[in-house]
Amino acid sequence: MNKYKVSLQDIAMTFQTPEGETEAIKSISLDVYEGEFVSIVGPSGCGKSTILNILSGLLKPTRGSVKVQGKVGYMFQKDHLFEWRTILRNCLIGPEIQKQDMKAAREYVEKLLRKYGLGEFLHHYPHQLSGGMRQRAALIRTLAVSPDILLLDEPFSALDYQTRLTVVDEVWNILRQENMTAIIVTHDIAEAISLSDRIYVLSRRPAVVKNIYTIERTVAGQTPLQNRKDERFRIYFDQIWKELDIHDEI
Ligand SMILES: Nc1ncnc2c1ncn2[C@@H]1O[C@H](COP(=O)(O)OP(=O)(O)OP(=O)(O)O)[C@@H](O)[C@H]1O
Ligand SMILES: [Mg+2]
Repeated sequence: MNKYKVSLQDIAMTFQTPEGETEAIKSISLDVYEGEFVSIVGPSGCGKSTILNILSGLLKPTRGSVKVQGKVGYMFQKDHLFEWRTILRNCLIGPEIQKQDMKAAREYVEKLLRKYGLGEFLHHYPHQLSGGMRQRAALIRTLAVSPDILLLDEPFSALDYQTRLTVVDEVWNILRQENMTAIIVTHDIAEAISLSDRIYVLSRRPAVVKNIYTIERTVAGQTPLQNRKDERFRIYFDQIWKELDIHDEI
């Protein structure tokens, strides 16, 4: 049996607000093993971000156990790059906050930026970069504190479709090379199938796990873009599409 990096057992989450209670999560159990890429898909508002907030320790669940083996990096939906800081200094925020040795941190971050095609942009400001480059910079910023588990909340949703296809490949490459374990929240079923080892399909709020798909590839080790051409791709898509509780929403 593989070693899990993340394990949620029978988590529940109810928010107390002045307007009353909101039951966001009814019951979620989720295990992610070392080196795995797992996607979470589900209707809007069903509790996906809440799960990442619980995993990162930002929120304490109302019930259930949370086990995380290793250091968590969290990349939010928006890239949150600070416009007044250069790309290099944006990527150094994590080590700065953690009061790390800044010389070593700077060397590491510069190495990552160069390795992933941003070497010429160390001293540029975020608005001088394209959407895809900003996304890469945000990812490197998350990697700067050397996490071994990455939580990505809709990481590609701000990008147009064409850019997204290539950025997904780039990010996937970076994550594989850095031996990451990743949990990715996405609205996009095709994206989830293209880049995941497993997919958790959630119900409408309050969330329960409707199904877990293990994605088999005809050819192993291909990039997400190549995986889209896999003959099984359409079959998974149709199954998950039918299963998502989004059809009678509008
Ligand atoms: N801090 C909070 N206080 C009160 N209610 C909250 C809080 N955070 C989330 N909720 C509620 O919990 C439910 C789940 O929210 P969450 O953000 O996890 O959904 P989501 O699946 O990420 O949605 P989306 O796909 O639109 O990003 C929603 O009804 C939301 O209003
Ligand atoms: Mg969300």
